[in-house]
Amino acid sequence: MNIKNISDRVIYCGVNDRTTDLFEGLWDLPTGVSYNSYVVRGSDASAIIDASDSGHAPEYLHHIEEILGGCAPDYLVINHMEPDHSGVLPMLLSRYPALKLVCNAKTVDMLKGFYGIESNVVVMAEGETLSLGDRTLQFIMTPMVHWPETMFTYLQEEGVLFTGDALGCFGALNGAVIDDDMASDHYFREVYRYYGCIVAKYGTFVEKAFAKIAPLTVDYICTTHGPVWHSRREEICGQYARMSRWEGNPGVVVAYGSMYGNTTAMAEEIASRLAENGVRDIVMYDLSRTPLSHVLGEVMRLKGLVMVSPTYNSEIYPPVAHLADALVARGVKNRVIGIAGSYAWGSQSVRKLVAKFEGKPVEVIAPTAEMKQAMIDAAKDAMAEMASVMAAKL
Ligand SMILES: Cc1cc2nc3c(=O)[nH]c(=O)nc-3n(C[C@H](O)[C@H](O)[C@H](O)COP(=O)(O)O)c2cc1C
Ligand SMILES: [Fe+2]
Ligand SMILES: [Fe+2]
Repeated sequence: MNIKNISDRVIYCGVNDRTTDLFEGLWDLPTGVSYNSYVVRGSDASAIIDASDSGHAPEYLHHIEEILGGCAPDYLVINHMEPDHSGVLPMLLSRYPALKLVCNAKTVDMLKGFYGIESNVVVMAEGETLSLGDRTLQFIMTPMVHWPETMFTYLQEEGVLFTGDALGCFGALNGAVIDDDMASDHYFREVYRYYGCIVAKYGTFVEKAFAKIAPLTVDYICTTHGPVWHSRREEICGQYARMSRWEGNPGVVVAYGSMYGNTTAMAEEIASRLAENGVRDIVMYDLSRTPLSHVLGEVMRLKGLVMVSPTYNSEIYPPVAHLADALVARGVKNRVIGIAGSYAWGSQSVRKLVAKFEGKPVEVIAPTAEMKQAMIDAAKDAMAEMASVMAAKL
């Protein structure tokens, strides 16, 4: 069996993007990203599930043609309209003008607005099915994971669930498609990063989607980015469910900014004290140098977060403020947060960082730690206390 075949009826036809530097113009792609698409062949009809971006159209159309041996596909199921999966649509339609677009009511407005498409649209509602002959597609509405029109498609006879971006990740596919056939640990880390960047704000909708699919027998999870999950499907679903509830592993992200090194010294001090208190999983990020996506991913993974910032023009140092704002925008929950900072004449960073999290469902631990100009014993004592309180709460 070709390793791109999920079964003899479900064939992978996606593409790898190894040249886009920033996904959504924001998130770095050190190992690329895949735009996954699948052909499902029934005895009477065939359907493509999800498509590709516009940039890979020639390669993508070639895959479709190879798989269908020159026959036209009957349906395209649109689980998600974001252009990384729909950009190829105009080219697909010009090659296959009779192609029927299967989607839900919320997709209709987007098809018209993005592409001027109003005909050959088949609208499906919750639980409705589409027969391909001896294979049946069932549609499950999962709005706001992470757009309003997102839905899942379930291939009943084979237990294959097509989940769109849900359970997906950054990282192009290096030869194999199914987790069984590859070393997949890298993608587990990338799931944290993808979720932290793109899905984190919508955790409650992820939980609702998971509740809907709980009764289904699922052998293969076919997402729109990253590996097809088979042997590790329960593991990845567990990780995803924990992220949706903002459950973190015991460990700490120490994220800091610094111009001249004094605040770095605070971050190093806190990390040392955390380690002395038994914390084993500590990651440190200089926020001026590390792209935000990596920090967000690790914040999704770990329960503890320490933010350390100099005072800068009476404000939080900008890269540290950026992280705090990004977390608040994502509805950060359940995190134990330590705050420390430095100043030279009028302290603001600590007070303003604490204020960012006021009223949010996180625990900002006491004490915070402040340092004037350079390391002083009082700051060291506060940091030692902060580390011991944090270690006890993880
Ligand atoms: C451009 C700039 C603006 C600053 N603004 C303030 C300020 O408004 N209030 C203050 O107390 N210190 C201010 N500082 C001083 C720093 O907060 C202080 O020296 C801090 O310890 C620097 O940390 P670092 O050595 O990690 O860069 C400023 C420093 C710079 C370079
Ligand atoms: Fe998306
Ligand atoms: Fe996507």
